[in-house]
Amino acid sequence: MKLTRLLLVLSAGSFMLVSGSCNGEKSVSDGAVEKAEKLVAQMTLEEKIGQMSQLDLGYFRDQEQLKQAVRDGRCGSLLNFLGTEQVNELQRIAVEESRLGIPLIIGRDVIHGYRTIFPIPLGMAASWNPEAVRQAFRISAIEASSHGIRWTFAPMIDITWDPRWGRIAEGCGEDPFLASTLAAAMVKGIQGDSLDDPTSLAACAKHYVGYGFAEAGRDYNTTWIPEPLLRNAVLKPFHAAKEAGAQTFMSAFNDLNGVPTSGNEFTLKKILREEWGFDGFVVSDWASVTEMVNHGFAEDEKHAAEIAIRAGVEMEMATTSYYDNIKALLDDKKITMEQIDDAVMNILKVKYRLGLFDNPYADPEAEKKILDPAFLEHARSVARQSAVLLKNENAALPLDADKISSVAVIGPLADAPRDQLGTWCFDGRGENSVTPLKAVRDLMGEKRVNYVQALPYSRDRNKAGFAAAVAAARRSDAILFFGGEEWILSGEGQSRGEIDMPGAQSELLEALAATGKPVILVVMAGRPLAIGRELELSDAVLYAWHAGTMAGPAITDLLFGKESPSGKLPVTFVKGAGQIPFYYYRNNTGRPATDASWTPFDSIPTVNPQSSLGYRSFHLDYGFTPLLPFGYGLSYTTFDYSDLTLSSQVMKMDRTLTVRAKVTNSGEMDADEIVQFYVRDRVGSITRPIKELKGYKRLRINRGETADVEFTLTASDLAFFNGHKTVTEPGLFDVWIGPNSEEGLHDDFILE
Ligand code: GLC
Repeated sequence: MKLTRLLLVLSAGSFMLVSGSCNGEKSVSDGAVEKAEKLVAQMTLEEKIGQMSQLDLGYFRDQEQLKQAVRDGRCGSLLNFLGTEQVNELQRIAVEESRLGIPLIIGRDVIHGYRTIFPIPLGMAASWNPEAVRQAFRISAIEASSHGIRWTFAPMIDITWDPRWGRIAEGCGEDPFLASTLAAAMVKGIQGDSLDDPTSLAACAKHYVGYGFAEAGRDYNTTWIPEPLLRNAVLKPFHAAKEAGAQTFMSAFNDLNGVPTSGNEFTLKKILREEWGFDGFVVSDWASVTEMVNHGFAEDEKHAAEIAIRAGVEMEMATTSYYDNIKALLDDKKITMEQIDDAVMNILKVKYRLGLFDNPYADPEAEKKILDPAFLEHARSVARQSAVLLKNENAALPLDADKISSVAVIGPLADAPRDQLGTWCFDGRGENSVTPLKAVRDLMGEKRVNYVQALPYSRDRNKAGFAAAVAAARRSDAILFFGGEEWILSGEGQSRGEIDMPGAQSELLEALAATGKPVILVVMAGRPLAIGRELELSDAVLYAWHAGTMAGPAITDLLFGKESPSGKLPVTFVKGAGQIPFYYYRNNTGRPATDASWTPFDSIPTVNPQSSLGYRSFHLDYGFTPLLPFGYGLSYTTFDYSDLTLSSQVMKMDRTLTVRAKVTNSGEMDADEIVQFYVRDRVGSITRPIKELKGYKRLRINRGETADVEFTLTASDLAFFNGHKTVTEPGLFDVWIGPNSEEGLHDDFILE
């Protein structure tokens, strides 16, 4: 068994991987194609079909049936297997007992950590820190690969505007630019410096494409996405993932404009292969091939297999329509052997690139790195950077542990070790979680912490615990309320119609606020919740998302001022589900609302002539602004923006334009600020968004210091698909540099 010994050089808070086989400059064109071609030429049809089949553990009656299937080359990939011993035994059978010795590729959902769990991806997106995210995925790959996993079904990079959708938790939010930068970082973290490094996994850009536009946010629902929106927003992160070298893509469940994405030649062939030149392989989502029968797009599973193969889905996940029907489809001349050979070639290329033929086995020693202190420290750092301070009045935060005599820790998520890990957490364990209650007690000592859970879980409506909670609050100097959602309320198949704080949490918060004590609300959730009432009731609100294994220490670091919150919202917060969809890069409409045009709901006269209240685009009750805008987030310090300058007021199509500003930390605390750069194309051959993020920088600015920041635009940064072609059109453009999508220094320029 040839093993590559890994030397992990770990220092506090950071880590560097040094591997005997790590070879930074090694590219993927290292002969994988030639080797794959030679191997395909030797394969029987049965063996080829085997490579196109990925089976889950649950498919097999027993271990013997599983081993025989591997021995016969019946499946080239297994799903949800793990454990060094089991994987190495199956690999040994594949490599030593099958006819051609083709190794397996073991896949698993390692979405935001393996055993060291990081914030949910939506939370990591709030860090706006691609390098920290890359490291998080690097750690995840090191841990997962130690158990024989060499392929993860991540990153999930579905743009969505709908917080009802449970899988918003899994993605990078609403913005294509932010999502694209994070998609690339995630791919690079997963795949490492060299694919054949034993700690590198093949990434899988999913769910290709448009899944996040499920009507009503109801999972698996129909999606209608006009091509300009598809190309100008939804496809962008997938292109970034492909450019970052993602070795696999996953076709999705959804029916896109009438054509299921697992049988969609336009997206899978024309865009992914012909336009982008993707040369890895495409795996279906779980049963998404055979579900085309349900969609009414395939007559039966044989027809579904034909459609998917012709469209370019090269490996079928979990179902067996390929295994059952490819031979007949060839005999019926519905598909060609060339299509089969191309699919197998793409799969084998990835296996060669991963080094699986040379080094198919996991190193039993490697798992000692799981939960390494440096990994946990990084999880704590990422969780700190992901939390977003939404409100901080009456100097509620930061708390001073030396001055405050006691705190009341209240709520269903104060000590919920599994819930804080969030959704898509196969291998994370609650036993490894450090909860907020534990962290606050560690900091303040048990005697100074008055803990009352009050609600055993987020949906609980039983108020029996309220009295004890109020009593605890009365004898404390401040109230720390940990609320939000149980993990099960977001994720796949877990969409909600309402997006309020579940259960009786709001009533509990109201009772606590009535004590007059400072109320600090910490929300741990898998989606943006409509927390307008809770914002009103609280002196301070910290949105921590489901923040992972180290949620407790990270949140405590922020609440007690070890570090200032720095996260910014990667998604718009709406006032209620009725406002959905609401995203910042919306079009202006012919009747944009203004403050002057909207009459607050309670101020509408009770007697009205037959006339409208403004004939503008708003809701009578919600108005026309969100609860909180994309890019929003407060700090313990203050940042002042000044001196916006443009390198020119006229930009030539073949030149660049540089936009600069100064950002001063005018407060009392060193902190990070995420400076954002937005552009607006005033007039286009199709209507254009009122703002588009075109750059951002997370800057460390110490108190009293000023940072210079600059962003450079090229014509391609201003390009868009107008329904016919991708163009950059001359005319007037606005630019902003500021702290979020609604505030900033403004200027404009002419592109000619
Ligand atoms: C699921 C998900 C997909 C996941 C796959 C394997 O249904 O849609 O994201 O990677 O099956 O678990």
